Amino acid sequence: MYYKEVDFLPEVPSLFDLSLKEIQEFENVFPHKDYDHTFASYVAPQELSDYIQECFDYPVLTRYQVIRDKVPVHTDLGIVGVKYNYVFESGGNNVRTRFWDMGQIVESVCVQEKVWHSLQIDVPHDVTQVDNARISLTVRHE
Ligand SMILES: [Fe+2]
Repeated sequence: MYYKEVDFLPEVPSLFDLSLKEIQEFENVFPHKDYDHTFASYVAPQELSDYIQECFDYPVLTRYQVIRDKVPVHTDLGIVGVKYNYVFESGGNNVRTRFWDMGQIVESVCVQEKVWHSLQIDVPHDVTQVDNARISLTVRHE
């Protein structure tokens, strides 16, 4: 199971459920700016980062992630293990996060909105059927 719901993280207060426009005011730290139209990662407000950090006994980075088009198969750079995600807006009715092994899909999940979950991001995965902006919060080991 590369996708798992987790219950140790708190519900995200609605004041952090921001519009795309508000999120785009934050610093985009995704290193490949050519892919802005597909994927961007924005630094979350300090208050939100602090709130999330309290749930971890190791340092974490909290980002808003915006996906606007399908993301091809990849493994996340420089991250081992899992990251934690919370989807505010799914970006379509049937957006699927899929995990691959040897060219075969081994798991395909339609992640529900506003449910904290972990994703195993050091195995190949992609995101398909993104119709409009998919907005989530993502937390990973610093
Ligand atoms: Fe990824």
